Amino acid sequence: MKPIKKAVFPVAGMGSRFLPATKASPKEMLPIVDKPLIQYAAEEAVAAGITELIFVTGRGKRAIEDHFDKAYELEVELEQRGKTRLLEQVRNLLPPGVSCAYVRQAEALGLGHAILCAEPLVGDDPFAVLLADDLIDAKVSVLQQMVALYEKTGASVLGVQQVPREQTRQYGIVKTETTGNLQQIVGIVEKPSPEEAPSNLGVVGRYLLTPGIFDKLRGVRPGAGGEIQLTDGIAALLPQEKVLALPFDGVRYDCGSKLGYLKATVAYGVRHEEAGAEFRSWLAHSGLF
Ligand code: UTP
Repeated sequence: MKPIKKAVFPVAGMGSRFLPATKASPKEMLPIVDKPLIQYAAEEAVAAGITELIFVTGRGKRAIEDHFDKAYELEVELEQRGKTRLLEQVRNLLPPGVSCAYVRQAEALGLGHAILCAEPLVGDDPFAVLLADDLIDAKVSVLQQMVALYEKTGASVLGVQQVPREQTRQYGIVKTETTGNLQQIVGIVEKPSPEEAPSNLGVVGRYLLTPGIFDKLRGVRPGAGGEIQLTDGIAALLPQEKVLALPFDGVRYDCGSKLGYLKATVAYGVRHEEAGAEFRSWLAHSGLF
């Protein structure tokens, strides 16, 4: 079994729910306190043993490339001003030995299409997919939990969570069969109505996939919302390969939505090492509620 060393970050979506903030910059650059969403996702991947980060970029792509690039002028400036702590933070966004590569999705044709754009960089290896707008707060990162399951079984793994019935239209929903303590996916459908949904287990933005997915994605036609859906590629993979669902331990914030983003900002804000204590006290006494 090949280890998972590569992660794909699709960051070429429209981000229409967050306009106008996402007009010139991808939503994955929105900060939660002082770090952009993409940085949290990159750290989660690195903590799970990933060493190659592959970004599928679109509009405003420079922002993400610049974020992970060396910033000479900024570093010199911080050094001259003696801002050592900030300098360390800016310099060590990623540990040594972790590389970044970028590929362009010229048109936002859907998540499945974005993943297909990464094929030349992923090649014949199993890989992770992280949607950075799903920020997941967990003691052991979700990707680490998923990699542990992959290492035990060699199977593809999707991170899933119970979602309210009335919200199934916002998710890929899976049907599973339980054998021992494993939940095998036997069906998956993108954005079903509550009546048609095969369960209330929704896929959230973490996937471990085998390269077999690429062949399936090539055959996928536009589905829900007129987009080439990753879900449809996974559905085509099911008759051939075992795909497991992992109901993970952790709290998920949908930072692609305004409400989820605000919740994450408060949750991460109140425990931020520099601003947390004052923020908590301000919230308690603000008289806002
Ligand atoms: P979303 O479904 O959240 O879509 O994409 P979106 O376009 O980014 O946002 P809204 O719904 O218009 O507000 C899920 C993930 O897939 C990426 C997005 O960047 C996000 O991380 N994506 C989506 C692509 O990279 N390319 C696409 O064509 C579509």
